[in-house]
Amino acid sequence: MERSCFLLSITFLLVLQLQYSSIGTVGAAQTNITTDQFALLALKSHITSDPHNILVNWSTTTSVCNWAGVVCGARHLRVASLNLLYMDLTGTIPPYLGNLSFLVELDLRNNNFHGTLPHELSYLCRLKFISFKFSNFMG
Ligand SMILES: *[C@@H]1O[C@H](CO)[C@@H](O)[C@H](O)[C@H]1NC(C)=O
Ligand SMILES: *[C@@H]1O[C@H](CO)[C@@H](O)[C@H](O)[C@H]1NC(C)=O
Ligand SMILES: *[C@@H]1O[C@H](CO)[C@@H](O)[C@H](O)[C@H]1NC(C)=O
Repeated sequence: MERSCFLLSITFLLVLQLQYSSIGTVGAAQTNITTDQFALLALKSHITSDPHNILVNWSTTTSVCNWAGVVCGARHLRVASLNLLYMDLTGTIPPYLGNLSFLVELDLRNNNFHGTLPHELSYLCRLKFISFKFSNFMG
């Protein structure tokens, strides 16, 4: 599935049009809160050290919107903000994070993330704030 901000905007316009002409919901966003859950669980699985057990309640028994560091938007009930600053987390960023299509804010400052930043993060069209300060990324 090829996606880009441009394609997403086109899709959005299409969806609007379809809704107004009540043809149906063909082309509607294919993602939902389960997509967000998978993306965050992927992130969790890429974290090799969590000394303060910040991510203990990141599990399917708890609603994603109640996970530590996660804030969901009131409108779409999708993950809008991920704040894990100063958590001493060590790990890498999986491409799955690019599926958090409603993410506005991503703050991972002062952790020990390393490796490369996946290009999938460019899918995050709504992102207004991103910070990885003091992490050791390459590329
Ligand atoms: C999310 O979408 C998938 C299919 O794309 C579906 O199987 C799942 O039940 C949906 N989850 C919710 C919470 O709507
Ligand atoms: C998950 O952990 C965070 C931070 O410790 C806490 O604010 C939140 O209430 C917890 N959620 C649940 C459902 O226990
Ligand atoms: C999310 O992202 C991953 C990797 O970028 C991809 O394999 C997966 O199919 C995507 N979609 C969903 C709905 O999880």
